[in-house]
Amino acid sequence: MAHKISMLRDKNTATAQFYQLVKEIGALLAYEATSSLALETSIIETPLQATTGYTLAGGIGITPILRAGLGLAEGFREVIPDVQVWHLGLRRDERTLQALEYYNQLPHQVNLQVCYAVDPMLATGGSAIDAINILKRRNIPRLSYIGIIAAPYGLLRLSRAHPDIDIYVAALDETLNDYGYIVPGLGDAGDRQFGTL
Ligand code: PRP
Ligand code: URA
Repeated sequence: MAHKISMLRDKNTATAQFYQLVKEIGALLAYEATSSLALETSIIETPLQATTGYTLAGGIGITPILRAGLGLAEGFREVIPDVQVWHLGLRRDERTLQALEYYNQLPHQVNLQVCYAVDPMLATGGSAIDAINILKRRNIPRLSYIGIIAAPYGLLRLSRAHPDIDIYVAALDETLNDYGYIVPGLGDAGDRQFGTL
């Protein structure tokens, strides 16, 4: 993970490799974040004998926070393909740093055991807090946040606003700069994934 994140941070890493790395990290985080999910047992027959089999007890949802959450969501789906994907568009205003909702494809009928909000960057925490607020209106039994890099300020705000959720991040950085960017960070995760620098 440290090796992959170092390559992400490197300003010389080009778009295609950056996107590939985000997907690979998404897969590793999916492994970590799903390790405690509820399972149901049943008896299955191997060619040799009966044994206990396991299936996930209830559906899994992922909410990529657009745009930057898309690569993470793709990596997650490579580990667990059978998921519902609920797209949520939040754009952080560059001046106020407030998140604005511009797209919402969350279904109204919900039957999930857990939903993961995925977004690589937890900076001021505003986008993550808003995303979890929106997901909470769907009454899902369990919510989690998955990110790649967090600033201490954003992590603290998210955990205070939503003490009931699990938070998985791969790196905790030093601070935020005057423009709300994580430092050392990796720059703009959306622009770097989609080549819009
Ligand atoms: C980035 C990032 C988060 C948000 C983090 O998205 O992907 O969603 O900023 O900042 P915060 O913790 O201060 O809210 P951005 O709004 O730049 O949109 P993008 O994904 O389309 O680039
Ligand atoms: N969004 C990003 O993409 N990067 C940051 O450092 C902060 C917010």
